[in-house]
Amino acid sequence: MSIQKIGVIGAGQMGNGIAHVTAAAGLDVVMCDIQQAFVDKGLATIDKNLQRGVDKGRMTAEEKAAVMGRVSGATSLKELAGCDFVVEAVVENLDVKTKIFAELDSVCRAGVILATNTSSISITKIAAATERPELVIGMHFMNPVPVMKLVEVIRGLGTSEETTKATLELAEKLGKTAVECRDFPGFVSNRVLMPMINEAIYCLYEGVGEPEAIDTIMKLGMNHPMGPLTLADFIGLDTCLAILEVLHEGLGDPKYRPCPLLRKHVEAGWLGRKTGRGFYDYSK
Ligand code: CAA
Ligand code: NAD
Repeated sequence: MSIQKIGVIGAGQMGNGIAHVTAAAGLDVVMCDIQQAFVDKGLATIDKNLQRGVDKGRMTAEEKAAVMGRVSGATSLKELAGCDFVVEAVVENLDVKTKIFAELDSVCRAGVILATNTSSISITKIAAATERPELVIGMHFMNPVPVMKLVEVIRGLGTSEETTKATLELAEKLGKTAVECRDFPGFVSNRVLMPMINEAIYCLYEGVGEPEAIDTIMKLGMNHPMGPLTLADFIGLDTCLAILEVLHEGLGDPKYRPCPLLRKHVEAGWLGRKTGRGFYDYSK
């Protein structure tokens, strides 16, 4: 089946980034969220990020308008009925994702691939909510999507060879480098990244260093583009906690225990950049 129209579920930081790169690659996109206000915010973010490209002379205003013209918004999954491929990028929560996949299974045509951008949750479990496990796959983009080259591709137990091939081809078409790995909690990316972030939060919790010191040591000392606390704020502390819970429960090793300070921040609603406060203050 030729892939021309993509459905993206979730207009948050990952969803709008996936819609952005998909439309920029010449495909049509329907971006769906639960409220029109969230869809509008996602569209405004795509517009702002494309405008930076225009301001820097990388694209013309006409090219930007053409990309924006390929993205439409939706507030019901039913509006994804005409899509040839769907990528889900809603909150990192198994129940929310399985409900969406069950509904997608009845909305989308037979043969349509249903991909999830989950950071950590079992692809096999998500696939089991559908009658088409051979067509369900992990397509894990990195944040910020327009900038980061990697897509981690994860097969569930029942994912077919054809689904994997089509997903790898789509990732390449979007200008990404796709790398395959197996369906284990957190896959490779977050099994390695999240323990580092968690350990940085423990350093703060135990008074080993101030946030700026922890981040500067890791930035300048390890040549990371962002310190781990800045990166956690960038990812979203709710997402970091959800990933650590999946690692802790799924691998059963206490080394993945989420730091109590991370829990407190999530309880307070201090989720990082997206709420204006995390380990740092973004209100200004
Ligand atoms: N959306 C789109 N473009 C963005 C952007 C965003 N949110 N943020 C920055 N950019 C673009 C800028 O426009 C700029 O583009 P040009 O150079 O072409 O003009 C470029 O990125 C560099 O930006 P800046 O100069 O403003 O800032 P920087 O050099 O500090 O880079 C960064 C910003 C790319 C985000 C860099 O700090 C970085 O690489 N940080 C680490 C990101 C990372 O580790 N991501 C993975 C997170 S984990 C994950 O995604 C998986 C998961 O499941 C949690
Ligand atoms: P986010 O909080 O920015 O956005 C999530 C969006 O999903 C919100 O706009 C919310 O309204 C929407 N949503 C919630 N329930 C929905 C439903 N039933 N139907 C439609 N939309 C719904 O989160 P995010 O950072 O974009 O993360 C989304 C997914 O991508 C998660 O699975 C996360 O683990 C994964 N991910 C995140 C990052 C990151 O750095 N933040 C990186 C890679 C993957």
